[in-house]
Amino acid sequence: MILDSLLGFFSNDLAIDLGTANTLIYQKGRGVVCNEPSVVAVEKGGLGGRRKVLAVGSEAKEMLGRTPESITAIRPMKDGVIADFEMTEEMLRILIRKVHRRRALVRPRVIICVPHGITEVERRAVRESAELAGAREVYLIGEPMAAAIGAGLPIVEPTGNMILAIGGGTTEIGVISLKGIVYSQSVRVGGDKMDEAIANYIRRRHNVMIGERTAEQLKIAIGNAMPPEDPEYVEAKGRDLIHGVPKSIVISEVEVYEALNEPINQIVEVVRKALEKCPPELSGDIVDRGITMVGGGSMLKNLDKRIEAELGIQTRVVEDPLSAVVIGSGQVLDKLDELKDVVLR
Ligand SMILES: Nc1ncnc2c1ncn2[C@@H]1O[C@H](COP(=O)(O)OP(=O)(O)OP(=O)(O)O)[C@@H](O)[C@H]1O
Ligand SMILES: [Mg+2]
Repeated sequence: MILDSLLGFFSNDLAIDLGTANTLIYQKGRGVVCNEPSVVAVEKGGLGGRRKVLAVGSEAKEMLGRTPESITAIRPMKDGVIADFEMTEEMLRILIRKVHRRRALVRPRVIICVPHGITEVERRAVRESAELAGAREVYLIGEPMAAAIGAGLPIVEPTGNMILAIGGGTTEIGVISLKGIVYSQSVRVGGDKMDEAIANYIRRRHNVMIGERTAEQLKIAIGNAMPPEDPEYVEAKGRDLIHGVPKSIVISEVEVYEALNEPINQIVEVVRKALEKCPPELSGDIVDRGITMVGGGSMLKNLDKRIEAELGIQTRVVEDPLSAVVIGSGQVLDKLDELKDVVLR
């Protein structure tokens, strides 16, 4: 017991949000110490076809679309699941080493927030890679729970709390009461699907193909979940599909709004269904307390207003939607005695 608290004192516990788009690491007393895109750049063709990791994070993301043939930039997590085990492990290992260095005398305890839908096998893989990366103890937590704690919702009380986490790969909804998940659902619609919808719309309407990063930039610059009153315009570059040459086009906010309709409707439907499935006592609480949103996707302009307009329930975005999940996970590690029930077995 004494030894354990001594170890706890010397080690720097870490919380990790292993996301489809971004991986964040939070360290007690230091805050968010790592915030990197979940991308790994690898070189093929070593001995026995082994892949050699060249870079991870933003360095790797910059290489996207700018690499010679022998190098590829991989997103090891897709649609909220692990698409490439080996590279997920490498990425975790490199990022943990980077923040942990040899600062501490003891190996850290680590809590990792994983997508709600990951399988038993994937959980084991995540746990093992953290152990291989030097973790002393590894805990896993589901995204809706971590998000609710990070958002400061009173999850230990007997009240219904509705949390909506819109990430790059998935949208997860959770209803939480008394430290337990009463209802949860995950769909593979998030920021990536929004980008795809914008690119498809522009291809159909302008015969121009734009890259996924351009689509994301359009979404962030002029995306809107409500019909724009005084529409803005921006220029975007792509490839003309008829003549095969580079082309610059002007895109209006109305077009992006229309393009985003389908993915947004899918998100609204997930919330509607959760409200329907929720036990009546708890839905009463949610009507009173509203819906809390986290995740990068919740930053889409007017998404809160759209949900309110469609479902008649007050909706708010937390102050720092990109960090809420990792901060919530970190709080669980700080209060592990009190919050032990919220970690995944
Ligand atoms: N201002 C903005 N407006 C709309 N979308 C945004 C904005 N800023 C970031 N995003 C989107 O947020 C997404 C990333 O969010 P986040 O980092 O929460 O995802 P993640 O946790 O990695 O994914 P997941 O939870 O699905 O595994 C990206 O799709 C990004 O384009
Ligand atoms: Mg996330």
